[in-house]
Amino acid sequence: MRRHSMQRFENQVVIVTGAGSGIGKATALRFLDEGARVVFVGREKSKLDKAASGFQQDRVLIVEADVSIESDAEKIVKETTDRFGRLDTLVNNAGVHAQGKVDELSTDAWRKVMATDLDGVFFMSRAALPHLKYVGGSIVNTASVSGTGGDWSMAAYNAAKGGVVNLTRAMAMDHGKEGVRVNAVCPSLSRTEMTEDMMSDEKLLEKFNERFALRGPGQPEHVDSVIAFLASEDACFVTGVNLPVDGGVSASNGQPPQ
Ligand SMILES: NC(=O)c1ccc[n+]([C@@H]2O[C@H](COP(=O)([O-])OP(=O)(O)OC[C@H]3O[C@@H](n4cnc5c(N)ncnc54)[C@H](O)[C@@H]3O)[C@@H](O)[C@H]2O)c1
Repeated sequence: MRRHSMQRFENQVVIVTGAGSGIGKATALRFLDEGARVVFVGREKSKLDKAASGFQQDRVLIVEADVSIESDAEKIVKETTDRFGRLDTLVNNAGVHAQGKVDELSTDAWRKVMATDLDGVFFMSRAALPHLKYVGGSIVNTASVSGTGGDWSMAAYNAAKGGVVNLTRAMAMDHGKEGVRVNAVCPSLSRTEMTEDMMSDEKLLEKFNERFALRGPGQPEHVDSVIAFLASEDACFVTGVNLPVDGGVSASNGQPPQ
C-alpha cells in the first residue's frame, strides 16, 4: 500500500470512472491514500473489488456501471450521495480506443468511442454538477494529447478526446462563477491495459521514444499525481486547463529529431 504524506482530501468524496485498471485505478488509490472516500466505477465488479482491496471498506464504494448509459451515470451519482452525503470531485477517466482512419472505421466502433469517451463525460458531469456546486467541487477529465493534435489512424479517438478538451474549457467558463472548476489531464502513451499491445512492440516503442523529451512511456502514477493536484486546493485558481502529462511530447513542433 502506498502512503502519501499529504492528506489533501480528508472528509471529501471522489468518483473515479474506469477505476478498475490503469490511470483510473492509480488515481482512485491516490485519493484514498490522501484521505478521501472514493467511489470506484467500472463495468466489472471483480476488477473494481480487486483494485480497492487493502483499503478500509468504509471509505470505498464500488459501483458497477457503464458511463455511456445515461441512467447509469445518474445511478452512480445517486449511490455516491446516498452513501457518503456529498460529492467533491468527479474524475471522468473511463475511456476506450479504436484504431482506424475514417474510411476504415465501422459505425459501431465510432459510436462506442464517442459514447464512452465523450457522451460519458457529458452524462457524468451533468449528473454530478448539482452536488459539485453545493460544495464548490471540481471535475478532472482524462483527455489525451490525442485531443490536442492529430494522430495517424486514430480518427474516432482524436475526435472524442478533442471534444473532451473543448468541453473542459466550455464547462470551466459556464460553471466557474458557480464555484466549480473543470480541468483535464492530457497524457501521451502510458503503460496500461489500453496500450498492452503497443508495449510489446519494440520498434514502435523506439519510435515513440524519439518523440518524448523525457524518457517514456509514461506510467499511471505520473498521471494520478497531476489529477490529484488539479482536484486539490493547490489548484484553486486553475480552471479550463488541459494539462499535458506527456514527457514533453507536445513541446515539439512536430519536426523529426536529427
Ligand atoms: N494509456 C495511454 O496511453 C493513455 C494516453 C492518453 C489518455 N489515456 C486515457 O486514460 C484513460 C484511462 O485509460 P488507461 O490508459 O488507464 O486504460 P485502461 O484500459 O486500463 O483503463 C480504462 C478503464 O475504463 C473502463 N471503461 C471503459 N469503458 C467504460 C464504460 N463505458 N463505463 C465504465 N468504465 C469503462 C475500462 O474497463 C478500464 O478499466 C482513458 O480515458 C484513456 O483514453 C490513456
